[in-house]
Amino acid sequence: MATGLILAAAGRGERLGTGEPKALCRLAGEPVIVHALRGALSSGVVDVVAVAAPPGRVDDVRALVAAGVADVTVVPGGSDRPESVAAALASLPRDVETVLVHDAARCLTPPEVFVAVARAVAEGAGAVVPAIAVADTIKRVAGEQVVGTPDRGTLRAVQTPQGFRRDVLERAHAARAKGATDDAGMAELAGFPVRVVPGHDEAFKITRSVDLLLAEAILSRREGSRAVPGD
Ligand code: CTP
Ligand code: MG
Repeated sequence: MATGLILAAAGRGERLGTGEPKALCRLAGEPVIVHALRGALSSGVVDVVAVAAPPGRVDDVRALVAAGVADVTVVPGGSDRPESVAAALASLPRDVETVLVHDAARCLTPPEVFVAVARAVAEGAGAVVPAIAVADTIKRVAGEQVVGTPDRGTLRAVQTPQGFRRDVLERAHAARAKGATDDAGMAELAGFPVRVVPGHDEAFKITRSVDLLLAEAILSRREGSRAVPGD
């Protein structure tokens, strides 16, 4: 029974605004997709990888992910994220029974998040999301009017990797539930229970240029803590 990783990396990165697809933008000298793959593989829970790449950049992504790592398939992504995930899912070998779906843009996600999500699926959960408490108070609005303030204590911001029994993810995608913005949302709307495990501050999604500054700072701190004292 194998665990497959889907790396959703086919987005255009419009909010980042560099003119380059986000997965190919460089962070500390290396493309986002390389950081994302390295982090996921260092968890030790991933057996096989399917990357959804920007349709025009499949060969570039293939060259970046091939180095040193066996069993990585790269497929052209779709016009939205669910299409990209579905294309990658279809390419995973049939012996893959657990699937972790991950945003390449969450490229600094610590290995323990992958481990916790995979473990929850192994324990029997059909769908799993890592989540963190919400820092801001959230308002429901209609136009310029506040119409409600949900109790912040019950709110969570969900991250990736999200973990699934393969059949649950396939059925959730087959239903392509409208209104879902993530795979766990699709599973939920298709009627499956979704379990929550702890997420991590460093699993944030690189979305806007300020996120690149934070990511560079985290990488330089990690680099510093790897240096041998006295070196
Ligand atoms: N993604 C994808 N296929 C798409 C759209 C998005 O695989 N058609 C991926 C992105 O590459 C990213 C993740 O889904 O890793 C989360 O999406 P988002 O942060 O929205 O990335 P982009 O779509 O690239 O950014 P933007 O919305 O600003 O263009
Ligand atoms: Mg997007």
